[in-house]
Amino acid sequence: MKRTLLAVAALCAATLAHAADPIKIGFLVKQAEEPWFQDEWRYADVAAREKGFTLVKIGIPNGEKTMAAIDNLAAQKAQGFVICAPDVKLGKAIERAAKRNNLKVVSVDDRLVDGSGKPIESIPHMGISGYQIGKQVGEGIVAEIKARKWNMAEVGAIRVAYDQLPTGKERTTGAVDALKAAGFPAANIIDAPQAKTDTENAFNAANIALTKNAKFKHWVAVGLNDEAVLGAVRAAEGRGIKADNMIGIGIGGAKAAENELNKPQPTGFFGSVMISAKEHGYQTSVNLFNWITGKATPPAEVLTKGMLMTRANQAEVRKAMGQ
Ligand code: GLA
Repeated sequence: MKRTLLAVAALCAATLAHAADPIKIGFLVKQAEEPWFQDEWRYADVAAREKGFTLVKIGIPNGEKTMAAIDNLAAQKAQGFVICAPDVKLGKAIERAAKRNNLKVVSVDDRLVDGSGKPIESIPHMGISGYQIGKQVGEGIVAEIKARKWNMAEVGAIRVAYDQLPTGKERTTGAVDALKAAGFPAANIIDAPQAKTDTENAFNAANIALTKNAKFKHWVAVGLNDEAVLGAVRAAEGRGIKADNMIGIGIGGAKAAENELNKPQPTGFFGSVMISAKEHGYQTSVNLFNWITGKATPPAEVLTKGMLMTRANQAEVRKAMGQ
């Protein structure tokens, strides 16, 4: 009896010690140099200060670094992590590594998939509805084409494409569908596949599309993020196509878009559908913290909204988005 009591007491002490362990959360992002991800980190830092946990920020540009980062978090006695993976197909490997190390995991931005490409439902996710946000891009472009009274037959559309990423494909499909729904000729839509989701790769992809299609008088450009559209805008500028003949609308609304929209002279980057880095950075971290501390299980999936931001309505949109 005495022995049992002692064992129970020891177990309680161990549990208490565990419960008192400081909370440490990882925030792993695929492209640490991208302003969007820096914003997510900045808002995750706010959550860490507010809730009193330690935030460990790690860039994970490839699969190897991803696995190393998860092991590193376990070695540091973290209890969980938020992740935007460099390849969503790493989903199962990430889930296994998290389980093995007793870490809770939630995904942000890019939903992790299993071997057959299906979303891994057991990993809570916060992202956007790619198709809906893409439609907002397309509708914004259509409105501006109409405002400028362009003849759609004379307009080329560059779809900077990164179709191996489901949210990327959904976003640009939504944009292109909105163009087509407004009567934009499908034959004028040119795919420009990018090798990586940054401005340089988008520039290279768009350059080829522009070179091969010199017949168009005006241009519009869509892509999965602001960097993709900026690449197309820069490529067009290189060929003498400036603000009056280019309507590019990106997705994100972070520093990359802000810098562009605040240039003294307008460029072909007409606007960006601003999405909430604040919610994606802050709320994912708080959700994970609540999960770890046993307060609440995160919602299985949250899709956040976006708003079209242009030079004209920047302040208004930032205010409405709380950023
Ligand atoms: C993807 C893109 C990023 C950003 C996020 C937003 O991860 O690669 O640039 O747009 O989605 O959810």
